[in-house]
Amino acid sequence: MGNPKWVLAPWAVLLLLQLASASHHARLSLETEAASPSVPASIVSPLLRTGYHFQPPMNWINDPNGPLYYKGWYHLFYQYNPKGAVWGNIIWAHSVSRDLINWIALEPAISPSIPTDQYGVWSGSTTILHDGTPAILYTGIDRPSVNYQIQNIALPKNASDPLLREWYKPGYNPIAVPMAGINATQFRDPTTAWFAGRHWRMLVGGLRPGTLRGEAILYRSRDFKHWVRAKHPLHSALTGMWECPDFFPVGKAGVENGLDTSEYGAAAGVEKHVLKNSLDLTRYDYYTIGTYDNVKERYVPDNPTGDVYQRLQYDYGNFYASKTFFDPVKHRRILLGWANESDSVAHDKAKGWAGIQAIPRKIWLDPSGKQLVQWPVEELEKLRGKPVNVGDKVVKPGQHFEVTGLQSYQSDVEVSFEVSSLDKAEPFDPAYSNDAQKLCGIKGADVKGGVGPFGLWVLASADLAEKTAVFFRVFKDGYGKPIVLMCSDPTKSSLTPDLYKPTFAGFVDTDISSGKISLRSLIDRSVVESFGAGGKTCILSRVYPSMALGKDAHLHVFNNGETDIKVSKLTAWEMKRPLMNGA
Ligand SMILES: *[C@@H]1O[C@H](CO)[C@@H](O)[C@H](O)[C@H]1NC(C)=O
Ligand SMILES: *[C@@H]1O[C@H](CO)[C@@H](O)[C@H](O)[C@H]1NC(C)=O
Ligand SMILES: *[C@@H]1O[C@H](CO)[C@@H](O)[C@H](O)[C@H]1NC(C)=O
Repeated sequence: MGNPKWVLAPWAVLLLLQLASASHHARLSLETEAASPSVPASIVSPLLRTGYHFQPPMNWINDPNGPLYYKGWYHLFYQYNPKGAVWGNIIWAHSVSRDLINWIALEPAISPSIPTDQYGVWSGSTTILHDGTPAILYTGIDRPSVNYQIQNIALPKNASDPLLREWYKPGYNPIAVPMAGINATQFRDPTTAWFAGRHWRMLVGGLRPGTLRGEAILYRSRDFKHWVRAKHPLHSALTGMWECPDFFPVGKAGVENGLDTSEYGAAAGVEKHVLKNSLDLTRYDYYTIGTYDNVKERYVPDNPTGDVYQRLQYDYGNFYASKTFFDPVKHRRILLGWANESDSVAHDKAKGWAGIQAIPRKIWLDPSGKQLVQWPVEELEKLRGKPVNVGDKVVKPGQHFEVTGLQSYQSDVEVSFEVSSLDKAEPFDPAYSNDAQKLCGIKGADVKGGVGPFGLWVLASADLAEKTAVFFRVFKDGYGKPIVLMCSDPTKSSLTPDLYKPTFAGFVDTDISSGKISLRSLIDRSVVESFGAGGKTCILSRVYPSMALGKDAHLHVFNNGETDIKVSKLTAWEMKRPLMNGA
């Protein structure tokens, strides 16, 4: 740094991108005309394309790859199809940002080019080596069928370039191939490596041959070139294939600061470790919190059944293949995750794009020590316009009111609710203890309850025929202890046919005895990304209203329970558009 010459470069890149995107718009409108009559016009509306979530100008994206901070820039690589809005031809696209919100697209970082990745460059991570150089570990496909997965490394051509524009693949690739005891078709997504004693360690996701045992296969290396598989995986469970493992330390319960991936021990402030896997079978990201012993090379979850039952999810909605990284500038750990579309392939082709990244979230250990807490990075707040406030408003049973004074289709809404009494909370059926989603499927937003459902109707049409509900509902267990359910109910979100409209839900481990609970929803045209009770439970939904678009989208607070609910404070902001990859 200190040389101002390169600072100009990304803006020149940006200008070029803007020119490129002009031709992109022309292309989009052509595709729109050509779209089959079964694709409704609204689906290709620019009013459904996200305004402030991460997207390239067009085409398919999936997993976030190798996020890191380097010499003044945040880097995000991601799985990208340069040729269309469906999965295929995957390369590592690359964007950089000063603030995790405004993004500049660069040339792709990694494409198939060597024998060990000639048929695919799949997901992976970055690690900062001892000399400060970042290294990418990624999965390559070396034969025409994707049935043989191997691990490769790539290094920057010029580590002085803060934008890390060019990468090369050293001749000692591959660094790990499937050997005995590894299912070659289920062997991918190396993690960020961590260092202890004299060794680097990394994990690769796997499935033990002939079983349903998902594994975090452990490798060790002294020089980051030669990697040896450890005798035992770091951890495993009978859940099916583990994709995209992620493993990192967290600080003391309630401390929001994050830790570098190699930090270890109480003296370094490490309280626990977190192991996440993306479960191919269910397409959700699950994690456990536990203790890691780097001598025995073992990780033991605190909750012995947390791998299979009573599972914690980063997000109970559309959020997958996530990855964290440590931000040394703001001393925080940041989580990125992919949200796919909930429309059809025909819709995606007509739109010309598919897939977004969730808003980057800071992530830390909850004061209870039993779960993580997530919150949108503070930089997002720079996009907020003038606030609209509502205070001290009681919503009686069956009532709702509209929040006016802003265009809510691209907004950020924070609400503090107060429940007047928990007396009427419905009895909780323990059969649903491990199935919030099913419970919410039965008790949706329109099913009257004792305490709740209460919450927001977002992206609602004027006549309320279209609306997405994000809400809470309170139950009581056999001992009278309240149980809080948080749901996202998109069943009425759109009149467009062929949409996938799953109800998503999670329990919220919060003390509601005071009656207080908060909700934050990031509404972005076709995204509703919600944070319950300060980020204890998160749900991202994709919805595609046909009428509640742009200025025709409304925002309401509703209460379908028998108990009064007070909105002690609601603040809503229209959100500006950040720079988004030149789109
Ligand atoms: C490496 O990057 C630095 C910083 O951008 C630049 O000044 C230098 O010319 C680059 N070196 C080469 C060989 O491209
Ligand atoms: C590897 O995993 C695939 C997918 O689950 C399975 O069909 C195949 O039988 C497995 N191979 C072995 C050797 O277990
Ligand atoms: C993406 O979308 C489909 C619905 O079309 C869903 O069933 C699938 O599991 C989703 N999630 C992921 C991570 O692929």
